[in-house]
Amino acid sequence: MRYIRATVSGVAAILIASVSMAQEPEIDAFTGFKKTGDWELVRANCIACHSTKLITQQRGTAAQWLAMIRWMQAKQNLWQFEPQIEDKIVAYLAENYPPQDDRRRAAIPADLMPPNPFAPETHPVPE
Ligand code: HEC
Repeated sequence: MRYIRATVSGVAAILIASVSMAQEPEIDAFTGFKKTGDWELVRANCIACHSTKLITQQRGTAAQWLAMIRWMQAKQNLWQFEPQIEDKIVAYLAENYPPQDDRRRAAIPADLMPPNPFAPETHPVPE
C-alpha cells in the first residue's frame, strides 16, 4: 500500500513537473534567453555588443522593442534586418519580455520634484 502511494505521488510529481515545464520555457545557460519560438534569431543578432542581461531585464511591447532596435540602428551601429527576421525578433521579445505592472513606479508629478539643473531651458542643446 505504501509502495503504491509512493508510486502514485511520484507519477503525480512527474505530471506536475512536465506541465509546469510546458508553461515555463527552459533558460539557455549561455545567453539567459528563454528557449522558445525564434530565440535563436535573437541569439544570432543581439549578443555581439552588450550583455544579454540588458535584454532579459528589459520589458516592452512590440512597438517599444522595435523603438529600441531603431535607436540602436540609428546610434549604435546595429545592422538592418530583413523585415521577416525583424518581425520574428520583435515578436519573440514582446511575447517573452512583455510590459509588467510591478516593474516601475509611476512618474512623480513635476510639482513634487526639485528643479532639474539639466533641463533644456538651463542647458540648451548645441545644434
Ligand atoms: C551593434 C551593436 C549592438 C547590437 C548587435 C545590439 N545592440 Fe542593443 N545596445 C547597443 C548599445 C551600444 C546599447 C547601449 C548600451 C548601454 O547603455 O550600456 C544598447 C542597449 C540596448 C538595450 C537597453 C536599452 C535601454 O533603454 O536601456 C536593450 C534592451 C538592447 N540594447 C536590446 C538589444 C536587442 C534586442 C538586440 C538584438 C535585436 C540588440 N540590442 C543588439 C548596441 C547593440
